[in-house]
Amino acid sequence: GLVPWLFNTQLLGEKLKERFGLSDVIVVPGNTDQDLFAQEDLSRAGAEYLRKILYPGCIVAVTGGTTLAGVAKMIREGVDARDIFVVPARGGLGEEVETQAGNIAAKIARAIGAQYRLLHIPDSLEASTAEALKKDIHISEVVKTIRSADILIHGIGPAEEMAYRRGLSPAEVDFLQKNDARGEALRYYFDKDGKIIFEIPGIGIEIDDFTHIGTKVAVAGGSSKAAAIEAVLRSGQENVLITDEGAAQKIIYGK
Ligand code: F6P
Repeated sequence: GLVPWLFNTQLLGEKLKERFGLSDVIVVPGNTDQDLFAQEDLSRAGAEYLRKILYPGCIVAVTGGTTLAGVAKMIREGVDARDIFVVPARGGLGEEVETQAGNIAAKIARAIGAQYRLLHIPDSLEASTAEALKKDIHISEVVKTIRSADILIHGIGPAEEMAYRRGLSPAEVDFLQKNDARGEALRYYFDKDGKIIFEIPGIGIEIDDFTHIGTKVAVAGGSSKAAAIEAVLRSGQENVLITDEGAAQKIIYGK
């Protein structure tokens, strides 16, 4: 019935909040690994949360991925967003067009009536190229906006899956395995203690920027992401988690 079901998601939310020192947790019912309705619920919860925390003049940085693409699909206008900026959080992430951060930023901006800025850079960069591009005047303007984001909303992926999706080299995959990489967010790979062990060169938000971004919201669900979510949360950098029962249950009870 409805009551125990609500109770379980709320209880899981409270436990996650306490365990990881978060200010807010939303747990939607179901497991997005298997359930399309749960996927929609997660996207809607992310979209509603984002809309609730927007304020005039804020800068919102977003990442790519299917979860954030879902958030972009669900978000509706409602606030006065004329002087809100939506930007991609970090580089082009080597995704399909629909799930690229820039595309998601533009979609969210259009839906809420905000402005957006994009980073027109290739998907994979060598560290030296990334450094050179950061000095370009047009890019550095956008990067300045991105790095002064007030709100960051991002996805989390399992380290192995993300390494595969990004086409990392066998040596890099080997490194990640040897160092027990669990989760990935914003091109950073985290081990089970939340330590960053590997980084893909990128342009945009750097891990040092995390301390001055007022609100950091992770949106990720599915029991298959439990270890990844836990790894990223252990970094102690997040404020808000929007997840599902499948992931929450596995993080809290191990199943
Ligand atoms: O590639 C962008 C990104 O946000 C990654 O940082 C994250 O690991 C992944 O997408 C999550 O993707 P999905 O929502 O499709 O599982």
